[in-house]
Amino acid sequence: MNRRLLLKTLASGVLGTLAARWPLLAADAEVELAPQQAGPVINPHIYGHFIEHLGGVIYDGIWVGRESKIPNIDGIRKQFVDDMKRIGAPNLRWPGGCFADGYHWRDGIGPSAKRPRTYNFWESRMPPGLHATESNAFGFHEFIRLCRLVGAEPYVAANVGSGTPQEFHDWVSYCNAPLGTLSLADERAANGQKEPFGIRYWGVGNESWGCGGSMKPGEYATLYRKFVTQFPAFAPRPYLIAAGPRGHSRDGDMGWTTGFFEAMHREAPDGFALHFYTDFRNTKVIPEKSTAQEWYAVLREGLRTEAVIEQHWKAMEKYDPQHRTKLVIDEWGTWYTAGALIAPGYILSQTTTLRDALHAAISFDIFNRHAAKIEMANIAQTINCLHSLFLAHESNYVRTPTYYVFEMYRGHMGGQLVPLQIRAEELVFPSAEGTGRIGGLAGSASIRGKRLTVTLTNPSTHAPVATRIRLASGTKSTEARGRVLTHDDVAAANTFQSPNVVSLSQLPVSVAGDGFSVVIPKQAVAAIEIELA
Ligand code: AHR
Repeated sequence: MNRRLLLKTLASGVLGTLAARWPLLAADAEVELAPQQAGPVINPHIYGHFIEHLGGVIYDGIWVGRESKIPNIDGIRKQFVDDMKRIGAPNLRWPGGCFADGYHWRDGIGPSAKRPRTYNFWESRMPPGLHATESNAFGFHEFIRLCRLVGAEPYVAANVGSGTPQEFHDWVSYCNAPLGTLSLADERAANGQKEPFGIRYWGVGNESWGCGGSMKPGEYATLYRKFVTQFPAFAPRPYLIAAGPRGHSRDGDMGWTTGFFEAMHREAPDGFALHFYTDFRNTKVIPEKSTAQEWYAVLREGLRTEAVIEQHWKAMEKYDPQHRTKLVIDEWGTWYTAGALIAPGYILSQTTTLRDALHAAISFDIFNRHAAKIEMANIAQTINCLHSLFLAHESNYVRTPTYYVFEMYRGHMGGQLVPLQIRAEELVFPSAEGTGRIGGLAGSASIRGKRLTVTLTNPSTHAPVATRIRLASGTKSTEARGRVLTHDDVAAANTFQSPNVVSLSQLPVSVAGDGFSVVIPKQAVAAIEIELA
């Protein structure tokens, strides 16, 4: 029985426990790598982050306060800093999200005790008394302190929805004007920072079609130009990011992209923010349980990112044939209807399971494969939120399965994309329409110096994939090691009580002819590092 037939049979429920007895095949899949044809550099910023003043992301998640008994550095949760350093987090997008278009940066500078308490976008959705009102205890300098501790580059989302161009320009000057020039630079120094912050990444609004102003694309384009034309020209040269489409809309929101670029009259921003949520909000799918149908539905929806990237890139080409504008996928991840929340006030927080780890892996493989188009990507959101790497509440803290994917994919950051061909039988699975199909193995590869990083995901819930990895002629290696992330339960998650349910293990890789052979377990992500001779 082949994998396709087996799955069909399993889907009909006839074979019961056959999955457990499925024999290992000689080679179910072949992966061919051509390191000599290495292509574009995978921007490390693709492995970026997003933190918003929302639920428990900032307060409790990151900011515990200077007086807290929880180990902290100047009020910032130490464990969070250590883990973000460990994965080499390249950037942090802040302060939103929807929060950004209601945020006024001056509320978050100066002595903490004197900062105002302010209304924010999420306030009305929060249960009474739970960080509903913004205290501004975590303000701009605290954000920069966090970035410096982690070694991440700040990506600041400016307020277009309720702010003015002047407010934006003042913020930029406050950050980047050299000491002794503008009064704003003196003010910065008085607040403890003499040297300019040197901020490069600026988002000009967020989701301007929705919470960022409910604009039409042409209206936003006009506003965008007003916001950037008089941008203060201090070093470094800014990288300006325009608000892009709601990519997960059924029509891909192509109208936003074409409407915006049409109205820009050939002016091109540096980056165009595409959002893609694997959006299961209005469904019965929850993280804590996963039928085969739900498992595949989530992964297949995640795979749609690839087509959405290609469609928007093509649409942009008409207006920007040289592709001066790159994509910035500054919100991506899974989004379920409210599941078991880590605390009642932490709206939008969800349990992150093995399924989300595989989703993250296939997303990164897509981003890597489109490295030439993508400047940056930011998972939504890093802690206590949707597709999070960490959950934290008071002294409790845990790394989710998704965290380990960042660890496994670290080798791709700054590597050159290596052409990779996969030959594997498709998986056929039960879906709402009857049957659905996805590739039997997904992956990407890159090279840095002599080290090849190959990441592969086996989405099957029933069978391992015996994989032969072949190196194109002219390249040789006899040294490889592998790591794998998997669990028998598709809904496995790490909790405060059991933090190591899903974690990394070694994956045996053996030399075979002109390459290697490896068995990738069912429902698993594998990372294989090959040292070229
Ligand atoms: O990540 C949560 C929210 O999703 C963000 O605030 C908003 O930009 C998006 O709709």
